[in-house]
Amino acid sequence: MNQIDIERTAFRSRMLGGIRSADEGAEVELAGWVHRRRDLGGLVFLDLRDRSGLVQVSLGPDWTDAASLALAHQLGAEDVVAVVGSVVVRPSENQNPDIPTGEIEVRASVLRRLTDVDTPAIPVYRGPEDELPSEELRLKHRVLDLRRTELQENLQLRHRLILACRNYLDRLGFIEVETPILTKPTPEGARDYLVPSRVHHGEFYALPQSPQIYKQLCMVAGFDRYFQIARCFRDEDLRADRQPEFTQIDVEASFVDPDDILGWMEGLMVALAVEAPRIEAHAPFTRMTHAEALERYGTDRPDLRYGVEIQDWTKALARLDAPVFEAAVAEGGRVRGLLLEGGAALSRKQIEAIEGQAKATGAPGLLWAKRTDDGGSGSLARFMDEEAYDEVGMKPGDLALAAAGSDSMTSPALDAARLAAIEALELSPDREHAWLWVVDFPVFEEGPDGALTANHHPFVMPHPEDEDRLEQEPLGVRGLAYDLVFNGVELGSGSIRNHDTVLQRRILRLLGLDDAEIDMKFGFLLNALSSGAPPHGGVAFGVDRLVALFVGAASLREVIAFPKTTAARALYEGAPTVLGAHDLAELGLSLTSPVSEAGFVEEGGSQASEAARTSEAET
Ligand code: AMO
Repeated sequence: MNQIDIERTAFRSRMLGGIRSADEGAEVELAGWVHRRRDLGGLVFLDLRDRSGLVQVSLGPDWTDAASLALAHQLGAEDVVAVVGSVVVRPSENQNPDIPTGEIEVRASVLRRLTDVDTPAIPVYRGPEDELPSEELRLKHRVLDLRRTELQENLQLRHRLILACRNYLDRLGFIEVETPILTKPTPEGARDYLVPSRVHHGEFYALPQSPQIYKQLCMVAGFDRYFQIARCFRDEDLRADRQPEFTQIDVEASFVDPDDILGWMEGLMVALAVEAPRIEAHAPFTRMTHAEALERYGTDRPDLRYGVEIQDWTKALARLDAPVFEAAVAEGGRVRGLLLEGGAALSRKQIEAIEGQAKATGAPGLLWAKRTDDGGSGSLARFMDEEAYDEVGMKPGDLALAAAGSDSMTSPALDAARLAAIEALELSPDREHAWLWVVDFPVFEEGPDGALTANHHPFVMPHPEDEDRLEQEPLGVRGLAYDLVFNGVELGSGSIRNHDTVLQRRILRLLGLDDAEIDMKFGFLLNALSSGAPPHGGVAFGVDRLVALFVGAASLREVIAFPKTTAARALYEGAPTVLGAHDLAELGLSLTSPVSEAGFVEEGGSQASEAARTSEAET
């Protein structure tokens, strides 16, 4: 099929964006939105817009019929019109090099209005100086905002990435299997969205946080290689990089080890990067253990575009007469820090702002020192002597930031300080595209109440070397689990699964479940595993995060057609909504507290302030 055939419909002979000077003289039927109208009295120029681009349409008494010209004088922005006309090449002084169709215009003989349109609540056309309306307004009028070129392009790239993903996985023999949306709860660490059952009062489905258990069941069922572009739902605190409802590229395969999965998925990222002009991916990606990532960068998702690393200064600085160091070491902690070349150029205010970021992670503060030609300054400098400066490798003009205490305190503090310092110093990255696999994540972590919780989810296979330490030293047990990190953002996460029922039960017990609870919650999984489970494993990537990174968007809302605010509201259609007494009764539900002001409000009110909070929380 050629281009014209794809574009032709009952209303048009072709779309707008592809018309060129080679089409000179062609008769065309066009349809689209009035992006902008310039009325010169006798002549009227319309910029007509569709998904493919813009075209200038000219109307004048010599070539347009009188009724059409009269209509052209009345048109407003976003009117939906159809045009019959011919393509002419513009005189060179009138050509517009800024748009692909800028060499031509379409002289309209006939213009028809297809739809009566209200005055748009927010403009779609924006002049070079015009700012975007506030996000609150744009979300409220999402349909108009979606007409913006940037959002159109983002969603088109999203489509191409998903298509490329399906094609790539299909070539590798993966088949797409749809798993249920009305499910039994699966533990992924967030709260479930629940759906009451009308026919079984008092019983609830959960919307899937991910298809994790179902994809494992697919392996036991013998599908060998599964994938799904899967909708997931999590009722968790939202941020710019989280939505309550999001999409995963979800993958699972049988008879695999981590190298199989990591290799295939590197190939997937390379295939996806081909679609995105801004992104490069070259396999193999860097690999680093979880322990090493924490030691060198203080985080399990380090941004490797920048070389700055955390250093252990315990030995170098412990001899100094600094009570905070002594106390930290006495309690089994360490002195760790960041050396920032040329960092002495930062003002005290800037350093305090960096310290503020570290404090926001719960650290009491940072010590800092600028080394100068004749000594140093800063809270750390008063303890430092020449030898100590030399020992940590500081030269005049450098800045040191130090934290003393347990690793669980210094790691997040120095991670936050590292990122803030990189920004404050406006460091240029060593490379633009830092792909990284962080491997060997621990199976467990310590919850706020000291109890063990699953680091990824409870189905991770422990590292074979660590299995016999499960009960004695659970926090030290590594799992065959990995995350994919791109420029400091966690794109995906996965593991080899536990296909051994006895081992799986031991892990669930360590997570505080007794046998009755295990059977109630996971009996169906354990039954499946004991019915002949192949060794299997997989991974899932966040599509929204991936697209946002690939287009350089600051928020997932830029790559989702109808996103929610950070208060989990849909502003355009107005969700969630209050249920009437009849609907509640039918579901066998009654409310224990009255409906709060949370009920959706049409104009202003709580809705507006929520959107404002959305922007605040994310700037
Ligand atoms: P995990 O919970 O790490 O793993 O999720 C995988 C990826 O999904 C994306 N993601 C989100 N994106 C937008 N909004 C959210 N609220 C959100 N939560 C997660 C992230 C994340 O890396 N079943 C396992 C995968 C597996 O083990 O195969 C899982 O869901 O990019």
